[in-house]
Amino acid sequence: MKRLIEQLKEDHDLCDGALADLIESNEPDDALFAAADAVRRAQYGTDVYLRGLIEFTNVCKNNCYYCGIRRDNTKEMRYRLTPEEILESCESGYRMGFRTFVLQGGEDPHCTDDFICTLVNTIKTQFPDCAVTLSIGEKPRSSYQAYFDAGADRYLLRHETASEAHYRKLHPPELSLTNRKRCLYDLKEVGFQVGAGFMVGSPGQTTRELIADLRFLQQLQPDMIGIGPFIPHHNTPFLHEKAGTLKLTLRMLAILRLMFPYVLLPATTALGTISPIGRELGLKAGANVMMPNLTPRRVRQYYDLYDNKICMDEEAAKCRACQEGRVRGAGYRIVCDRGDVCRSIKSE
Ligand code: 5AD
Repeated sequence: MKRLIEQLKEDHDLCDGALADLIESNEPDDALFAAADAVRRAQYGTDVYLRGLIEFTNVCKNNCYYCGIRRDNTKEMRYRLTPEEILESCESGYRMGFRTFVLQGGEDPHCTDDFICTLVNTIKTQFPDCAVTLSIGEKPRSSYQAYFDAGADRYLLRHETASEAHYRKLHPPELSLTNRKRCLYDLKEVGFQVGAGFMVGSPGQTTRELIADLRFLQQLQPDMIGIGPFIPHHNTPFLHEKAGTLKLTLRMLAILRLMFPYVLLPATTALGTISPIGRELGLKAGANVMMPNLTPRRVRQYYDLYDNKICMDEEAAKCRACQEGRVRGAGYRIVCDRGDVCRSIKSE
């Protein structure tokens, strides 16, 4: 295993067989995490970038089998923040040191391109030293262009799985992997810093699917990669499915850091949900981004993509302080910075 880890660290690549060995290994992960951490320190030092997450609508026209805010979950209370509420969240985030705001939402038909563009423009005018990241799903290229022209800097759109057959198991027939990929390539061409990613341990996922995800990411070369464990939600068709594990998620984080030294890699909320120290372990396995929640407390509980999501009742300032402690405890340092990608690969 040591040899494979060294090779992955040197070449940022392995053949499928060796990747499978690494993913399925029974050996402890210490050497893998140490290698990932060395690469992360060479590239980004001990810096951890913060993204203030504003979940501004939980209305969604899609019906993904895994997701708690899917259209058919009629038990969910639906909400949509006003531009004023979103701006207030940005203001309090700015005072706490955030220099990136992530506007995330379901695919809400009421949020027109005009709404998004005006919002982005207002935020960028009011906070010119901040980056705005959008995470609002699949759109025509012309919409992506309009958001970019309005000043948006980055876009997160997880591909969820790069296997055609597996994509079918996770999504209803009206959604397609082809369109998902089209969106990601359009976003890149338009000029966004782009984030893709996948869930670990989603129903039907095997090592083969995980390798397909890694191969797709090698083609796309995204700036950000968001991964977290799948966690069942009680009002979805996947309610009885098993959650992804901490062990495999951490292992995939480390492999991603070795394959993509430059990438921005968050220790996600889902990782913090399956283990109380999940995010700290994520940082030690190569992650370098945290995304504290800036969504107003009044609506936060309704953005429940999965069960038992953490930080549902925390004041944003408390969330920020808590993360500061966690990051420092793990041996890293939060920096007050936009935290753009650093693409030139540095070696130790
Ligand atoms: N468990 C874990 N992650 C989920 N997401 C959606 N539903 C779940 C779930 N049940 C993730 C998806 C999506 C991101 C916003 O949240 O990967 O892209």
